[in-house]
Amino acid sequence: MGDSELDKFAEKTQAEIIRELKEIYSPVVIDHWLNPRNWGIMNDADGYAKITGPCGDTMEFSIKIKNDRITHCTFDTDGCGTTIACASIAAEMTIGKNINEARKINQAALLQYCGGLPDENKHCALLASNTLQKTIDNCLANKQEPWRRLYE
Ligand code: FES
Repeated sequence: MGDSELDKFAEKTQAEIIRELKEIYSPVVIDHWLNPRNWGIMNDADGYAKITGPCGDTMEFSIKIKNDRITHCTFDTDGCGTTIACASIAAEMTIGKNINEARKINQAALLQYCGGLPDENKHCALLASNTLQKTIDNCLANKQEPWRRLYE
């Protein structure tokens, strides 16, 4: 197979994969799956948390806060496409919100925002929201007791 034939094969395969994804997932999920936003962990974050879900995937979030408003939110995960999509969506939903508003980002809110997920993927949204909420807990604890960060 020549290079151009290989390219055509790869394009066709990619198109087939996307067609199959569209049969299962919403456009929002596919968009965040294929083009995740805010991926990476900040070294100078105000809050950080990492959780390993029952499936064995890990997720991390880091946030920065200014005057009670979350200015930055980033994630990392070794999970599958829906896990990546849920984390990316959670980060996007969080940026610009104050703490009270961000506290409302739970599994149901993520599922509503992304247009739903198949039953077997709903736990990905739970892992994302649990990790995000633990990150906010860590941020608030650091704010109350700044010395804590010296021991982390
Ligand atoms: Fe593990 Fe989605 S498959 S969190």
